[in-house]
Amino acid sequence: MVRHNWRELMKASSMTRRDFVRLGAGAAVAGAAVAGAAGQSNVLIPGSLSAQSLPDGRKIRFGIVGTGIRGCDLLRSARKVPTGVCVGSADLYSTRLQAGKEAYGSDFETTGDYRRLLDRKDVDAIFIATSDHHHRRVTLDAVAAGKDVYCEKPMSHSVADGLAMVAAVEANKKIFQAGSQRASSILYAKAHEIFASGKLGEVHEIDAQWNRNTPGGAWQYPIPPDASPQTIDWKGFLVDAPEHAFDPKRFFRWRCFQDYGSGLGGDLFVHLLTGIQVITGMNTPASRAYSTGGIYYFKDGRDFPDLLETLYDVPSPTGNVHIHLHCNQNNDDNSEHIVFYGKTGTLVVTGRTVTFTPQDVRPKFEGYGWGGMTVAQRKKGMDDWKAEHPEPLAALPDAETFSLPQGYDDTAVHIANFFNAIVTREHVVEDETFGNNCAIGCHLANQSYFHRTVAKWDAATKTIKV
Ligand SMILES: NC(=O)c1ccc[n+]([C@@H]2O[C@H](COP(=O)([O-])OP(=O)(O)OC[C@H]3O[C@@H](n4cnc5c(N)ncnc54)[C@H](O)[C@@H]3O)[C@@H](O)[C@H]2O)c1
Repeated sequence: MVRHNWRELMKASSMTRRDFVRLGAGAAVAGAAVAGAAGQSNVLIPGSLSAQSLPDGRKIRFGIVGTGIRGCDLLRSARKVPTGVCVGSADLYSTRLQAGKEAYGSDFETTGDYRRLLDRKDVDAIFIATSDHHHRRVTLDAVAAGKDVYCEKPMSHSVADGLAMVAAVEANKKIFQAGSQRASSILYAKAHEIFASGKLGEVHEIDAQWNRNTPGGAWQYPIPPDASPQTIDWKGFLVDAPEHAFDPKRFFRWRCFQDYGSGLGGDLFVHLLTGIQVITGMNTPASRAYSTGGIYYFKDGRDFPDLLETLYDVPSPTGNVHIHLHCNQNNDDNSEHIVFYGKTGTLVVTGRTVTFTPQDVRPKFEGYGWGGMTVAQRKKGMDDWKAEHPEPLAALPDAETFSLPQGYDDTAVHIANFFNAIVTREHVVEDETFGNNCAIGCHLANQSYFHRTVAKWDAATKTIKV
């Protein structure tokens, strides 16, 4: 089975230099190459993806399970992708059935039971935008019903869930795409291009953070006045989770609770780990992780921390790569970045920019160590050094900065990649193995935090040992 590699990624994203706004040195070259779809500008869906349709010439027909915050966002982005059409939705909260139709801007069949969507022969694919604890169940049912699946991140709610999902997708030979949309972004493709060029030299340290400082950033989402057991299928929400009396806080703020969500690990670490996997080409779980953190401000009954830090060791051909991830919901300074520290350069990826800065490792006389010597010794040391280095210094590589064009929608491109794979039956960039490995990173972080010890990935048994 073909697995993701960087060449596939570059091909899939069809990135061109003109897709970027290049900054610096007075050069302001506006990104052209805008292959807008459905009249939208700046979507930047590569032409090769916009043109695909099924053999009989029709669009891909999809249904969506979960039309809450993300489901509605997916539908707004899907409107810009001309190769697919939404034909149905399911949600457990009846008001959201209307929200989904408004987000997509057209009418389609709705249901409270997602299995009605799976029964429909005219549905090719299913989008899953439910709380994390439903991802496994809906994926397994969808692939068994012959549907291809786009499943939001984190792909799994537990290691066992992820492994079951990988096995089911592969056994049913279905296209599966995990929903960390940045995997399809030209920004990450550009960062990967720089990384793969070798300009950074060997990289053994990666630091990434994503911070926020608002109640919404800490998942205190609004609870609508009509929320009640009459409008919400509470039993349908709990499914395999522990029994609990109806509680709208748990329904609308499920990210705060281990029973349904995955905390900062599942919300933000997974995006950062996806970026790191795309940019480096590493596609393997960390060998071990150590987390710390706590609930410092949002003492609202949640069981996940509002500050989480994790150190990972990831095996690589050049020795371990050490990854430091940290997310704080109580200070948003320098909100979001991933930094790759290489021997000969530094790469910084923010939400909208990629910057490469060379390290000056050209040979030079290092006077500090000569400070404790006599004047005569220092002079001789410098003369000897000059005699040993007669050649002029080579020029440093240029610093480079790239920025996404305004309005670029990586979710629309990610959806277009998914539709394209449904037609070609080729693997997507962020397939089930890729998505599962990212999710295992989240589970390692959470297991270490809750057990207050190092969490180790046991590749032989595919389990976490704490
Ligand atoms: N890729 C991204 O950038 C991104 C952003 C936000 C959320 N997400 C992910 O998207 C998923 C949904 O998050 P959200 O913020 O939209 O949550 P949400 O609570 O706003 O919406 C989830 C919806 O799913 C529905 N649902 C749950 N189980 C269902 C089932 N079995 N059948 C039908 N409907 C069901 C609920 O009724 C709810 O309306 C999560 O996995 C989250 O991590 C991804």
